[in-house]
Amino acid sequence: MLENAILVTGAGRRVGYHLVKRLHEDGYTVIAHYRTSTAEIQALQDLGILTIQAQLDNRATILDFVKALQHCCSSFRALIHNASSFEPTAADLVVAAEQYEQFFNVHMMAPFLINQSLQPLLQGEDGNPADIIHITDINVENPTPRFDIYGTTKAGLHNMTLVLAKKFAPNIKVNAVAPGPVLFAEHHTQAIRQQMLDETLLEKEGGAEPVYLAVKSLLDNPFVTGASIPVDGGRRLSKR
Ligand SMILES: NC(=O)c1ccc[n+]([C@@H]2O[C@H](COP(=O)([O-])OP(=O)(O)OC[C@H]3O[C@@H](n4cnc5c(N)ncnc54)[C@H](OP(=O)(O)O)[C@@H]3O)[C@@H](O)[C@H]2O)c1
Repeated sequence: MLENAILVTGAGRRVGYHLVKRLHEDGYTVIAHYRTSTAEIQALQDLGILTIQAQLDNRATILDFVKALQHCCSSFRALIHNASSFEPTAADLVVAAEQYEQFFNVHMMAPFLINQSLQPLLQGEDGNPADIIHITDINVENPTPRFDIYGTTKAGLHNMTLVLAKKFAPNIKVNAVAPGPVLFAEHHTQAIRQQMLDETLLEKEGGAEPVYLAVKSLLDNPFVTGASIPVDGGRRLSKR
């Protein structure tokens, strides 16, 4: 049975994988959730990190995942909700409605059920509160119409940050990290990448490490709750 673990969802690639690797390097016990088995998940298993597979877009599989977490870990230091679906809203309304259900489940229902179920097991260290961290997006402040389903469900996760900060105080801090262009998606064309760079004050793709630095600063700071840290090179100010 693990103790004082940090759960990271969506750890099979990119930012989630980086968060797990860096938390492990910094001495935390980590549980890595994934959907698709990848070389990165194999690399985490080779480091001795517990990995758990689950679909987070279906209420039954989310609740099975919660049971698996309760079974393998007696206390949690933090829950980090990173898993996310990212694609433009479909033109076909039936497909868009299916997207809404999926995005709602992964961005809102899964964090809600996991937070609510594991809340009694969350324990901070040295008398300080434990942590819940939602990875959101700068779209929450300045949304992109083509990604309205993605953006509105991420905005729901942002609002959950605020309400759970009230609900779970004083034993648990609840905060968000809101990335901007940290890692381009495969489907981003060269033109879109250039437009994003042109709209980013610091004029670069940030990488996953700045997201980790924001997460670590929240874990280290016992007096911040209900806050959102933008990690976006300033793009929220200049994005059209
Ligand atoms: N990359 C950026 O520049 C950027 C910008 C703004 C916000 N963000 C936010 O930062 C976080 C990390 O970004 P990223 O680019 O690393 O994300 P990503 O590459 O899209 O990875 C997301 C992860 O979530 C998992 N996932 C998606 N739907 C799932 C589901 N229904 N059930 C279980 N797992 C599911 C994926 O699993 P599979 O491997 O099986 O698909 C994947 O491992 C996300 O929350 C994202 O919204 C990122």
